[in-house]
Amino acid sequence: MSNWDPAQYLKFADHRLRPVIDLMARIPLERPASVYDLGCGPGNATKLLAERWPQARVTGIDGSAAMLDKARAIPGIAWEQADVAAWRPPVPADLIFSNAALHWVDGHATLFARLLAALRPGGVLAVQMPHQAANPSHQSLFALARDPAWSAKLAGAVFSNPVLEPAQYYDLLAPQAALDIWETEYQHVLEGDNPMLQWFMGSLLTPVLERLKGAERKAFIRLYGEKVAAAYPRRADGRTLLTMRRLFIVATRR
Ligand SMILES: C[S@@+](CC[C@H](N)C(=O)[O-])C[C@H]1O[C@@H](n2cnc3c(N)ncnc32)[C@H](O)[C@@H]1O
Repeated sequence: MSNWDPAQYLKFADHRLRPVIDLMARIPLERPASVYDLGCGPGNATKLLAERWPQARVTGIDGSAAMLDKARAIPGIAWEQADVAAWRPPVPADLIFSNAALHWVDGHATLFARLLAALRPGGVLAVQMPHQAANPSHQSLFALARDPAWSAKLAGAVFSNPVLEPAQYYDLLAPQAALDIWETEYQHVLEGDNPMLQWFMGSLLTPVLERLKGAERKAFIRLYGEKVAAAYPRRADGRTLLTMRRLFIVATRR
């Protein structure tokens, strides 16, 4: 599993929390007893879940030891290191929540069916995932990965993006759940010098950067940085708009 860098990820913590708040607003639960946050990272979203439902037993689950070390500073929450691809709750859960994590896990037809089946009747699966493969952030990376100068070094490290179309999640989950599905395209207003590069160094590029060392790493960062700087030009006031399409699914098990 990749070496996530919590400090790099948290550079944009406020922007990254906005979809969490939008997702939480649509969860129709009053007093869930058990809440799981899959791919909890440094625990920012998990903390909000624990604050909204103080009576609940809240567990944050992540595969990254570095992310969990950061999360452990937040009191009152259980933290577990596990691979979400194989995870199951010990007993059927009231809420399984996941923000910006399940797009790192393959096989969504099986994964989503398994997560829905892990809920008690009336329980909720609430998920947000970037749906971003067509945007320049990802296309720039795919182009570099196809380039013969990089393809051998990056083989297997480039994020395949297993996210399905909204209607496919509907067809998959509707036989057993009431569904609220939507997409939002955010325009994150970012400050500083090439913030796109900084943003994606904290997420999309994680598995790529851990493959590269020294001069190669620097060269890759420079090339990717040039591509995203050109694709997301600064506005007149010096800020940059990061367009992020995100898919939201709230499934209430019947
Ligand atoms: C972009 S971060 C999102 C963190 C957090 N949910 C948030 O909203 O800020 C993605 C997280 O998913 C975790 N992750 C990715 N694949 C995973 C897997 N198969 N099992 C467990 N965690 C995984 C990473 O370690 C990382 O912490």
